Amino acid sequence: MEIIIKDNFDFVVEEIAKEIENLIKEKPNAVLGLPTGNTPLKMYSKLIEKGKKGEIDFSNVRTFNLDEYAEIKADDPSSFRYYMFQNFFNHINIKKENIHFPPSELKNIYENCKKYDKTIENLGGIDLMILGIGRNGHIGFNEPTSSLDSRTRVKTLTEETLKINNIKFEGVKYPDLAVTMGIKTILSSKRIILIAEGEGKAEAIKKTVEEPVGAMWPSSVLQMHEKVKIIIDEKAASKLKLKDYYKRIYSRKVYVDALLKEKN
Ligand code: GLP
Repeated sequence: MEIIIKDNFDFVVEEIAKEIENLIKEKPNAVLGLPTGNTPLKMYSKLIEKGKKGEIDFSNVRTFNLDEYAEIKADDPSSFRYYMFQNFFNHINIKKENIHFPPSELKNIYENCKKYDKTIENLGGIDLMILGIGRNGHIGFNEPTSSLDSRTRVKTLTEETLKINNIKFEGVKYPDLAVTMGIKTILSSKRIILIAEGEGKAEAIKKTVEEPVGAMWPSSVLQMHEKVKIIIDEKAASKLKLKDYYKRIYSRKVYVDALLKEKN
């Protein structure tokens, strides 16, 4: 894993936006995996800004969102589809047919979850999966003790997640059920970047990066992927034991990359 620690979250946003810009320049029809939550909001604003300035052309980009609540309508303000269109898709030149969400209806859910994973596969897989992280280490809605080999499926949310996500769906029949990309689905991405901000995520980052891989902290499974970047601010990095070492690696990165290029 490459751990990139920035002084503050605005620099994290700059870095992730640059990564996405470079990817789309290199591959205009890139397949992106996208998160929701508070953390990515500034990233989406930055990408909209770059789109409006013509620095990024989203017209051939395909997207797959990580998760969605079960049995919730797309126009319900609590749905992740609503969140994504309000905060991103309505403001960029992406084609609607290139936007994909996990199924929300529970009818035919097994078949539709398989279809979701199959569609990702048929497009050649996700080029860049962008993740947030829950305080309990969930990625997407893969809650603690999720199988590390799981595919897209229905998950029952923990009390903690329901509380933190402030899930109060008046009249929604199944507020604690969600549909999430599985851990194996996430790991099948070519590259993964996890972003996190603030003290509240420091424990989750510590467990993700420096503690044993295990289903109790699903995010720890990222240690098993060969191309993961963790881009975080100082506060989210505050519990990392080898913080100075990560900073030294990053500060020497340009020099080491140039040296290896010269030698090979
Ligand atoms: C939500 C989403 C995750 C998100 C996480 C953190 O439950 N299912 O995809 O990464 O919680 O959200 P936030 O960025 O608001 O802390």
